[in-house]
Amino acid sequence: MGKLKPADPIQIQAAQLALRKAIFDSTGQYMPVTYCVNEDAARFMVRSDAAGLLAAGPLSPDEMVYANGPALWLERPEAKVIQAKIRKHLDTGQAIPRAYLMKSIGLLLACNPATTATIESIAAGSMRVRGAAERLGGIWALSKRQRDFIRTWESESYREKLSRTTSQGSLQGRIAVVTGAGSGLGRGIAIGLARAGAMVAACDLDRPAAEETVSLIRQEMPGAAAAAITCNVTDETSVEQAYQTLLQRWGGLDILVNAAGVAPAYSLVNLPADKFRFALEVNLTGYFLMARAAARILMQQGMGGSIINLSSKSGLDASKNNTPYNATKAGEIHMARGWAMELGEYGIRVNSVCPGNVFEGSKIWNPEYIKVCAKKYGIKPEEVIPYYVNKTILKREIKRQDIADAVVFLCSDQARTITGQTLVADSGQVMVR
Ligand SMILES: NC(=O)c1ccc[n+]([C@@H]2O[C@H](COP(=O)([O-])OP(=O)(O)OC[C@H]3O[C@@H](n4cnc5c(N)ncnc54)[C@H](O)[C@@H]3O)[C@@H](O)[C@H]2O)c1
Repeated sequence: MGKLKPADPIQIQAAQLALRKAIFDSTGQYMPVTYCVNEDAARFMVRSDAAGLLAAGPLSPDEMVYANGPALWLERPEAKVIQAKIRKHLDTGQAIPRAYLMKSIGLLLACNPATTATIESIAAGSMRVRGAAERLGGIWALSKRQRDFIRTWESESYREKLSRTTSQGSLQGRIAVVTGAGSGLGRGIAIGLARAGAMVAACDLDRPAAEETVSLIRQEMPGAAAAAITCNVTDETSVEQAYQTLLQRWGGLDILVNAAGVAPAYSLVNLPADKFRFALEVNLTGYFLMARAAARILMQQGMGGSIINLSSKSGLDASKNNTPYNATKAGEIHMARGWAMELGEYGIRVNSVCPGNVFEGSKIWNPEYIKVCAKKYGIKPEEVIPYYVNKTILKREIKRQDIADAVVFLCSDQARTITGQTLVADSGQVMVR
């Protein structure tokens, strides 16, 4: 066999999304779906007896315990058809398979990314053995007695438990994209989503910063799935590539948090036009491009989803020396409302979160910006943080996790009836009427 040619990327993507939806509809589980360029699977897939050979049951304890049996044969990338096949399989008392062989596409795995390599090797090895066994007189799968023995085998159930993920948060298994995840609020939200069990793609223009966020997630949650993706939200091609990278890796999408933002602070009379246009580009065009691409995937996937625009209290209450910020942050809220109206029928909820001032880890609150604020209020730079905290009703400094908690809530099923809304998390500084 020459160099293996993978299937068409658009077909692979459609297969991943359809399988993910079918698993969700038949089990309620959010699962990543990975496509494997695997030679054994490709050779096996073209056999006319492939479906029959896979139906013979598990060959080894590993295939039974780690892969939940041999790969399930699928004819085409249609969620309804796959769901019916999975349902039939589950009705026989078997567990949901982790490997799938789709005609003309190849091997797809639906499992925790930490176990992908193990399951690929078990599934492909099993196909190799099945093909060879056929030539040598037929397949001897494990008997029912052997399978029952393994099921109750203490060491195997312990091994199986270890191979499962430990976190069980409100967003378990959901696939999330966070922009601006290399700093400040984006970073805090990426970490907060991971704490809630989501798989997080940390997108940022600044790649090393996004990688640092991923390593912070991994340090705290060694089993968590997190990936750094370079993305300039103002560039259409870069946005498309970021989603392609995500789909190749995990095969689906559930959550987008738009957080990459800028805040050029000038008085009206001193505001350069290019700074104004720059803010429109990042804060409005960037949010739009990310949401448009997300909505297309979410609609194709058919599992609903959640989009959050991270706006600001400045989107509700204008502040001085903040023309582009006031305009764009108000625009983000209003874009979200319109998107909520357009996407509701697909079960996609769109909401805005308006934080008050969050100083922790923010590059917006750089020394220059603090100086501008100090000047605005006639106070010293070191008095700026206490000054803002004192303006809140709760007299409580807002931390990144406070905003992450608001985002996690809106993305979770607990917020299932909430869309087109604006959640203000500002220790009570601005009241929405
Ligand atoms: N910090 C606050 O007080 C506060 C309050 C309310 C709302 N917000 C909002 O939170 C968001 C983040 O603010 P922050 O204070 O954490 O800012 P920050 O400057 O610390 O982080 C912004 C991140 O966005 C990235 N970024 C900038 N342009 C990008 C682009 N074109 N493509 C991809 N990534 C890009 C930067 O590299 C950076 O990592 C903004 O939307 C801001 O309006 C912040």
